[in-house]
Amino acid sequence: MKKFWSGLGKSKLRREKVVWREEARKRAALEAVKHVQDGFIVGLGSGSTAAYVIQEIGEKIRLEGLRISGVPTSHQAMMLAVHCGVPLTTLNEHPQLDLAIDGADQIDRDLNLIKGGGGALTREKIVASAANLFVIVADETKTVEKLGTNHTIPIEVLPFALPTVMVKLRELKGKPVLREGGGKVGPSVTDNGNFVVDVDFGPVDDVKELDLQLKLIPGVIETGLFVGMADVVYLGKPDGFEKLVRK
Ligand code: A5P
Repeated sequence: MKKFWSGLGKSKLRREKVVWREEARKRAALEAVKHVQDGFIVGLGSGSTAAYVIQEIGEKIRLEGLRISGVPTSHQAMMLAVHCGVPLTTLNEHPQLDLAIDGADQIDRDLNLIKGGGGALTREKIVASAANLFVIVADETKTVEKLGTNHTIPIEVLPFALPTVMVKLRELKGKPVLREGGGKVGPSVTDNGNFVVDVDFGPVDDVKELDLQLKLIPGVIETGLFVGMADVVYLGKPDGFEKLVRK
């Protein structure tokens, strides 16, 4: 009987955590959207926190009549933007963007990131690199001392190269696992037709060096390490938000 009641207490706590995190993410997203100005071309991130950003940009267009176009970083972002009435454009028309706003899986004190939980890392990195200002939205549970602590690093891999890339990742002391698809049998396939390998390197001392090593492996399309890219991070907290700016 005692166990039954303590179990209930735990699930209530878990529910409360989910609720505050959602509220915190939304708060961070609303704050980030204040960077959006009339006429801006904006990179639209992927994931649940970036979804709040897209919805809010749609609201701004509807209520304030702002002329904004978005470059989506994934099929998910594209569909949501259409649903929210955000006009879309491409890097062909706009190779340089005013702003990009996206989520993150982990953030260190230098605002280096792990991204790619949703498998959109390659387009996310390209869009981020095209933006004059790259803004991250997340809740405070995403911050860590060292990237890779209790978290894998996603890597997008050309399917042809997979077996060789797995060997090279093990040589770099990583523990790679091919990401399985949800709702389908076999591996997860990215919007670019590639595979994602999640690699456990443990806490990483030098993220820039690791990123370089990974990019040197033939067949690695892109890594989920975003080093020195984020300019501003809005961290949602249980009772507000914090703004971090890269030094
Ligand atoms: C998508 O590939 C990712 O980079 C997401 O931006 C990241 O996983 C954060 O997602 P959430 O906002 O859903 O936590």
